[in-house]
Amino acid sequence: MGHTITLLGIAGSLRRASYNRAALQAAQQLVPEDAALESFELDGIPGFNQDDEAHPPAKVAELKARVRAADAILLVTPEYNYSIPGVLKNAIDWASRPYGDNAWNGKPVAVMGASPGMLGTARAQYHLRQVFVFLNMYPVNQPEVMIAHAAERFDTTGNLLDEHAKDLIRQLLRNLVAWTRLLQQGQRERA
Ligand code: FNR
Repeated sequence: MGHTITLLGIAGSLRRASYNRAALQAAQQLVPEDAALESFELDGIPGFNQDDEAHPPAKVAELKARVRAADAILLVTPEYNYSIPGVLKNAIDWASRPYGDNAWNGKPVAVMGASPGMLGTARAQYHLRQVFVFLNMYPVNQPEVMIAHAAERFDTTGNLLDEHAKDLIRQLLRNLVAWTRLLQQGQRERA
């Protein structure tokens, strides 16, 4: 077993009873032994203003530092109007700027999401995967964790009850850790 892999989880919702934050909390119970899953809350990040990108607000500077300190990222996204919620896209945009100072650059990443609807955030997840191209992030492809009909999968206090969803999250995190180690090994060999 190598060094502990640090994952940074970000849920793309500010809602107190967010299913996606609850899914991130479930993931924290399912993380492999050789990894730790921390979380970052997006509340308090203002709307992106390019005038401020070189000297961003404190919360954005904190986000960039946390992203850089992590070995890999886990994004837990809701779906809004068939796409990425504004609060998550806004945070991604802030941390990608200014040009040449993209905190996401080269980070391994995994995606999951929960929705009361029947597609479990599929469309938002594919939009995120498109964004990863320009950010130069390295996504894990599978398993795809799309928690549909979320109201039936969580209890009223936000505990994930669905064993199939838990198995998928467990596997996704295992794959993210293995993928991160592989990329880090390649970087060491090229250095
Ligand atoms: C939604 N919702 C939603 N759900 C979905 O599956 N596909 C969609 O396109 C949308 N669109 C959408 C737009 C807006 C503006 C809102 C507020 C909501 C419903 C959404 O999945 C639901 O509110 C979730 O509970 C949001 O995630 P959290 O906050 O529970 O993590």
